[in-house]
Amino acid sequence: MELIATCAFGLEKLVYDEIKKLGLWVIKKDDGRVFFEGDETALIKANLWLRCADRILVKIGKFMAVTFDELFDAVNALEWEKYIGVTDCFPVKAVSVKSALHSEPAVQSIVKKAVVKRLQQKYKTEILPENSNSVYQIIVKSHKDEFTVCIDSSGESLHKRGYRKKGDIAPIKETLAAAMVKLSDWTPDKTLVDPFCGSGTIAIEAALIANNIAPGINRKFAFDNWKRIDKKIVTDAIDEAKESEKPLEKLPVYCFDIDPIALKIAQHNAANAGFDNIHFKRSDFNDLDFGKFENCTFITNPPYGERLEDAAKVNQIYKDFGKKFTQTKNCSLFLITSNEDFPRLFGRPADKNRKLFNGNIKCYLYSYYKIQSN
Ligand SMILES: C[S@@+](CC[C@H](N)C(=O)[O-])C[C@H]1O[C@@H](n2cnc3c(N)ncnc32)[C@H](O)[C@@H]1O
Repeated sequence: MELIATCAFGLEKLVYDEIKKLGLWVIKKDDGRVFFEGDETALIKANLWLRCADRILVKIGKFMAVTFDELFDAVNALEWEKYIGVTDCFPVKAVSVKSALHSEPAVQSIVKKAVVKRLQQKYKTEILPENSNSVYQIIVKSHKDEFTVCIDSSGESLHKRGYRKKGDIAPIKETLAAAMVKLSDWTPDKTLVDPFCGSGTIAIEAALIANNIAPGINRKFAFDNWKRIDKKIVTDAIDEAKESEKPLEKLPVYCFDIDPIALKIAQHNAANAGFDNIHFKRSDFNDLDFGKFENCTFITNPPYGERLEDAAKVNQIYKDFGKKFTQTKNCSLFLITSNEDFPRLFGRPADKNRKLFNGNIKCYLYSYYKIQSN
């Protein structure tokens, strides 16, 4: 099977490396997508283990089409019956970019008709009730008239690990938090500090990585209800993942936030994820003794000023944080914000600056290696 891991722009290389680490054959990476080969075990493992990917798609076909007749014929020629049973659900979602067939609702409708016709012929029935609990979400993407047709095996996006039970003001996506940890210099023998922890996503993702816990171990996937997926392969992959967990007694992860409600949510989320050894404390970062932080890695997502605070207040936070940070000893900092002026406000240029997307917001991961105290 050809599989596609979709991800936020900027995370392709991380996803590429994660797939390789699973021992799978990677074909290529593209904007927001990594193409790889594998059987059903690969599909299950990719869903369970990829920390930075959004979805795992099964590629069904690829073709050029500039008329609705061409689209209908090409989709109708694909072997949908290999996947979709006579009672299964198969909603269609279309995305069209720079293509002659630009109307997404019209593309969706033609694709649906073409699949229905194929299945009616194959199952020799007029009636496809779509009333089973097996869902085969068809995703059709066209770019410059080239169509890629896939079925989504993940269901809910993979950033939904299952531990975040309550919403809060502006949480970072779990996939992006995991990416920040992977792009940092943190290793579990070092202290990790998040002074703006919010709902605790960065700390929890770091804990999952440190304990080698598969991010998808506590959630369901669309493929769970697919008849062609052997249940034994799924339970074997889950058992194998559980056996490979390496529970750490001590987890040097320290989280602070000024907001007591955010902190409560963070503790709730950490407990849901199975961690009672992450340290949470309510504090304004201005009141922390930064001189005590030595050889630590700071990974954090402060307010941006777009959704939470006004710009002037956020600028002051960045300036104050920069001053406080000069008191640390031999610490590194990996900070994400959409504010392009952050290095100036913080008081020094970043060693590295990487463009990443937090949902639709263009952000930068500013990396500072080993800032020495003045
Ligand atoms: C963008 S949110 C962090 C979201 C977090 N990464 C998550 O996953 O939920 C920024 C956080 O900074 C906190 N904050 C704002 N000013 C602060 C200050 N002076 N000291 C500590 N925390 C502060 C806010 O309460 C908010 O929770």
